[in-house]
Amino acid sequence: MGKTGETRGQVDGIWCAPEGDARRAGRLARALGCSVQEGAPADGALALVFDADGLWLFGDGMRMRGDFAAMAKRTRPANLSHELLVRAAKVKGVAAPHVVDATAGMGEDAFLLAAAGFRVTLFERDPVIAALLSDALDRAVADERTANAAARMTFVEGDSIEALVHWEAPAPDVVLLDPMFPERRKSAAVKKKFQLIHRLERPCADEAELLAAARAALPRKIVVKRPPKGPHLAGAAPSYSLQGKAVRYDCYV
Ligand SMILES: C[S@@+](CC[C@H](N)C(=O)[O-])C[C@H]1O[C@@H](n2cnc3c(N)ncnc32)[C@H](O)[C@@H]1O
Repeated sequence: MGKTGETRGQVDGIWCAPEGDARRAGRLARALGCSVQEGAPADGALALVFDADGLWLFGDGMRMRGDFAAMAKRTRPANLSHELLVRAAKVKGVAAPHVVDATAGMGEDAFLLAAAGFRVTLFERDPVIAALLSDALDRAVADERTANAAARMTFVEGDSIEALVHWEAPAPDVVLLDPMFPERRKSAAVKKKFQLIHRLERPCADEAELLAAARAALPRKIVVKRPPKGPHLAGAAPSYSLQGKAVRYDCYV
């Protein structure tokens, strides 16, 4: 396990409160090659904690977890059609396009698309982020405010590059790519709680491979999320872009 502080891609340990699910904590600890620790995490530790409400990421004096119900305002039908991502991922003539979100993270983009009627298969390869996402999805399925959208989401823990390269027909309609962009974690626009998650993400070292894998799956469209002024993914010029204030979507058709 990592040291406290700015360690990237690792947590300092797993803790389970008395009312937490000790079995899930044990399973995750085995998957991460550590053991469930006694007591409470030290100040400054980046910690995974199971309590009565599920799994939390603790650090920097706060805690966070995925909460799709908190996206209620953005996912109102009237608001969804204005979402740049929904417009970027739209496929003419397909009522419920299948999107492969190859870099799922905490699943917010995937949830937005699922709320707009897309079917989404999400891939996340980081075991800690995957555990947090899986916990958020379990709660979304059980919550009537989010259950419909969550029913359109299928989560796969693992590397999307492998999956896309060996994709069997039918091809997905869209592949969505949002690999970590190095500058993003320092941006003032990033909410504090997401800065905790960014401590786990590693900058993407395989951009070209990711884009090539997306192309290999033969989707109708690849949508790449970028910072407004960020370079194109792997230097590849898109067919067109949708430019917003905080984000840009590069589309390859
Ligand atoms: C910037 S985050 C994505 C955020 C996401 N769009 C959201 O709405 O929460 C990028 C994520 O992609 C994951 N990732 C990067 N390459 C991947 C791959 N080849 N397969 C699966 N996950 C990958 C990283 O572990 C990281 O969690």
